[in-house]
Amino acid sequence: MRGTTTTPGRTGSPDVLVLGGGIIGLVTAWRAAQRGLSVTVTDPEPGGGAAQVAAGMLAAVTELHYGEEALLDLNLASAARYPDFVAELEDAAGTGVGYRACGTLAVALDADDRAHLRELHALQQRCGLESSWLTGRECRRLEPMLAPSVRGGTRVDGDHQIDPRRLAAALLRACEREGVTFHRALAARLLVAGDRAVGAALDDGDEVRAGQTVLALGSRSGTLPGLPDQAVPPVRPVKGQVLRLRMPPAATVGPFLSRTVRAVVRGGALYLVPRENGELVVGATSEELGWDTTVTAGGVYELLRDAHELLPGITELPLAETRAGLRPGSPDNAPLLGPGPLPGLQLATGHYRNGVLLTPLTGDVMGEVLTGGELPPVAKAFAATRFGPSGPGSRPGPRPTDPQEQNV
Ligand code: GLY
Repeated sequence: MRGTTTTPGRTGSPDVLVLGGGIIGLVTAWRAAQRGLSVTVTDPEPGGGAAQVAAGMLAAVTELHYGEEALLDLNLASAARYPDFVAELEDAAGTGVGYRACGTLAVALDADDRAHLRELHALQQRCGLESSWLTGRECRRLEPMLAPSVRGGTRVDGDHQIDPRRLAAALLRACEREGVTFHRALAARLLVAGDRAVGAALDDGDEVRAGQTVLALGSRSGTLPGLPDQAVPPVRPVKGQVLRLRMPPAATVGPFLSRTVRAVVRGGALYLVPRENGELVVGATSEELGWDTTVTAGGVYELLRDAHELLPGITELPLAETRAGLRPGSPDNAPLLGPGPLPGLQLATGHYRNGVLLTPLTGDVMGEVLTGGELPPVAKAFAATRFGPSGPGSRPGPRPTDPQEQNV
């Protein structure tokens, strides 16, 4: 039976139990419920998770890296789905998600940055992507607040943005309207019977048994007690510190920034994402510090120092929020999707830097596999079994310890 509950209690035996109510768990639940499956999501705070920190860049082209051409195809396929996905979700939820088709400008500040960006531009061209090289003057004509020291850049009109907090809220609402049940508790142990996942025990003492269980716990996906060794996904937390500032109203002084601006400064990726509501998101550090989510003076300093070099006026803006989240990193920086090594357990995790971008595609892929379909061709290279004992990758490393801190 389908229904919505927000209090602990027996939830029957749904077709699908989704462990984790971040955007990946929610989109999985929504798509599965739309296909007629009964679905329960277990999470103490559904709609929370890394999306509460993420900037929301849909940066398939400007976040391209060498050796990640297969991931590029996956990212582009998801970016192409975004306009229809947003229209459908906003209609289903009755609320907006802040999608802005604003494009992105990636700029260089010194000779090293410029050489790096030239190489990225050449790779983008070889991959057949739309990206045009601009002089420093042309960059400043597009974004007059940029520093005079900007030496050049690439204009990518297809890399857009969304507000991940509004995306999470809309997915939660869409799930509720589709009849998904929410059990506000943490998955405490995977239940396995006869070499098959059969549900989970929760930290409020309840158990939910289900035909299929989906592991969508973000960076904590490898820590779930009860996972047999061969089924532990090689997912680790990668900390990112992010700032939120407030821009002046565009009506008074013109837009502070009209599109996403990114740069590589001293080897670190920096991005500034201007929202229509006046929020300017500045990110992000990338730190391998386990479960630490402390916002540090050093992290804030480095982000503001680099952002100030790019956009000197930024230090005049009010600083509204500082926060750190944990990206779910995987050995090849790509997600693990679909059936894992343990029958009855499906995975939707390891999205690393691309969780927001890959949300529409992940929903479609998981909807397909949960109703008995195969991984679609675009997702075949990202099968959840690829790091298993018989896969081409390495076996997972030591099992990470269970984090004490909230995974944001
Ligand atoms: N995709 C941006 C980040 O992970 O920082």
